[in-house]
Amino acid sequence: MSKKLASGGVWRPEQSPLILNKRWQETGDTVSFEFIAQNQAHFEFKPGQFINVEIEIDGKKEYRAYSISSIPGDKYLQLTIKRVAGGKVSNWLIDNLQPGDQLNAIGIAGQFNLNDCQYGKRILLLSAGCGITPVISMARTLLSSKQSIDIEFIHCARDKDNIIYHSEINVLNEKNTNFNCQFLLENKFNDHDELVGYLFGIINKDKLDLLCADWQQRTIFLCGPTAFMEAVKDIVQKTGFDTANFHQESFTPNQQYESHTGLASSKENVLGSSAKESIVFSVAVPSFNYKTEVIQGATLLDALEQGGIPVIAACRQGVCGSCKCKVAQGQVHSTSTETITDDEQQQGWVLACSTMVEGDVEVSLS
Ligand code: FES
Repeated sequence: MSKKLASGGVWRPEQSPLILNKRWQETGDTVSFEFIAQNQAHFEFKPGQFINVEIEIDGKKEYRAYSISSIPGDKYLQLTIKRVAGGKVSNWLIDNLQPGDQLNAIGIAGQFNLNDCQYGKRILLLSAGCGITPVISMARTLLSSKQSIDIEFIHCARDKDNIIYHSEINVLNEKNTNFNCQFLLENKFNDHDELVGYLFGIINKDKLDLLCADWQQRTIFLCGPTAFMEAVKDIVQKTGFDTANFHQESFTPNQQYESHTGLASSKENVLGSSAKESIVFSVAVPSFNYKTEVIQGATLLDALEQGGIPVIAACRQGVCGSCKCKVAQGQVHSTSTETITDDEQQQGWVLACSTMVEGDVEVSLS
């Protein structure tokens, strides 16, 4: 029996796949994708959240999380994806997904968003590279809602050609008196006339003071590559900034995991090659009649994926909650409990990607 699709209404991933409406090149290595729901529903989410998508490549299902850059209430959903070395899913989408194609999604999640994070009348959006995707959704939403929020926006990029949403931001700058975006570029370019309006260098306190003199009186939303986020957090901590006014995305959407696939595979190699001289524990999933051995400190996700256990892992960094599973027995150590309630923790629920095996364990997926 075919599913009854709600025409209109709010999009739900289990009711309707996404259909690619159009795509365009943002910069040399980033592409924006605009989707519609097959059942014509509109998209509701909290600005700043990400969507978990499922894709089959060479017969294997892969899951990834991508920040949504469009605004809630719209019939279009926009993702912007960067090509990265070794980035299996991102590169596949860029190389293959064409208008009319279907993409399955699992759901929308993320606590870095305008609804759940408190903010005042003055905010500072601070992003680098593809970390601009959730904060542009915040900016677009605030501006379209006509809230009287004063928005300073600092975006850092390699050079002018690598500024994502560049022309749109220039238009927003011109049209909105409460919006001011400035660019901090790592590399200079030659055309002297065009140098006006850009600052060069990498983020530090002097640059921050120069670009936004009252940044310490604002609510900060931060998203970007790890080194950039660490640099900003260091500035914030050293100045005694009130952390209640500081919100950061816990992972760099899409390309951070993708760019770390080398690390992931080297961890797999460790699992295989060093098992003999390390402490080894067993991981069993009785409902799948599966048992394997891993070295101490391997993640549960490693152990489950080794055996092809169908665990969904979209962000792989303890943020999205998609890899939730239950440790029925045995000792583990978790570094993230995001999305898991206290009650669930008491019952043994953990995030497989952020849970290390510290003894023989038995796991269930439900
Ligand atoms: S994969 Fe997202 S929390 Fe584990």
